[in-house]
Amino acid sequence: MDFDTPSSFPTTRMRRLRYLPAVRALVQEVKLSASKLILPLFVCSGTQVRKPIVSMPGHEQISVDQLGAELLQIQALGIGGVLLFGIPHKKDAKGCDSLSSDGIIQQALRAAKKATPEILVITDVCFCEYTDHGHCGVLSESSGQTDVDNDATLELLARQAVSHVEAGADMVAPSGMMDGMVGAIRKGLDHSGYQHVPIMSYAAKYASSFYGPFRDAVESTPGSGDRRTHQMDPAVAAGQALREVALDLAEGADIIMIKPALAYLDVIAQVKDRFPGVPLAAYNVSGEYSMVQAAAERGWIDEQEVTSEMLIAMHRAGANLVVTYAAKNVARWTTQ
Ligand code: PBG
Repeated sequence: MDFDTPSSFPTTRMRRLRYLPAVRALVQEVKLSASKLILPLFVCSGTQVRKPIVSMPGHEQISVDQLGAELLQIQALGIGGVLLFGIPHKKDAKGCDSLSSDGIIQQALRAAKKATPEILVITDVCFCEYTDHGHCGVLSESSGQTDVDNDATLELLARQAVSHVEAGADMVAPSGMMDGMVGAIRKGLDHSGYQHVPIMSYAAKYASSFYGPFRDAVESTPGSGDRRTHQMDPAVAAGQALREVALDLAEGADIIMIKPALAYLDVIAQVKDRFPGVPLAAYNVSGEYSMVQAAAERGWIDEQEVTSEMLIAMHRAGANLVVTYAAKNVARWTTQ
């Protein structure tokens, strides 16, 4: 925009564009649409389970037999897709359930593809939901410090991704922030004949306290320690996120994700600016959702207005799509 043009008040009056609702509508640039939203779903073992997640009002852990009905409803609402998380019955040190053709996520994928073959199904590829210690990969010890073993985890991530796709996943979303994870998964998928399956990489994922309710939902709070040796430090400027994104693109990522969204709009904007041709996703995470629900329950804010404003901000910053727990609500609000 050219700010040097001589026009100024009273020749220019910015309020002319705001006076009539019709003009406001005409010049509006961001429009919320359920088709650009992805809804996360939590699938657990058992039958006829619909277990509310206390810290995430409106969300439940559901068993595989409930998934078909859920997906039919989601499809009817015009939501862009779902992101599936599996909560296995049995967790172990290696997260074996995530690699088994009979694991919880594989069962869920088969049920999903049977009920609604067209709905886009993405899976989160990580180990923290599946390990008994709650960390994002296999652990090893070096110089007295126990930590996720990056390179040993890569091969397992590739196996997990292939197993998800074999069971029906349309897209995989690695979220563990391991160095080289996108390349390892791309190679694994290509070797198995899945060259056409896209990877949505959690490229810049911060070690955030906004994940609290999610960790309740999937029971993945690390037994000890935290995720600061692999997730990014919120106190580092966006330049580091640009490096993460560049590396993931070089390894073959198709869609780039920034997570969380609300406190990281600067990162979203800078990534969009630097990589304008790359589809960009933002993850409007559990804590962001639950804060709004809690305040709205108390009557302190308006759920619809605040949720819409937050999602508009994410799109305005540059996100083409948003993973959000509010997807169903938005679908209902926007079709009214
Ligand atoms: C890791 C994963 C996490 C979330 C999505 N994928 C948790 C974490 O990194 O601890 C958090 C999502 C949210 O808070 O909504 N598999």
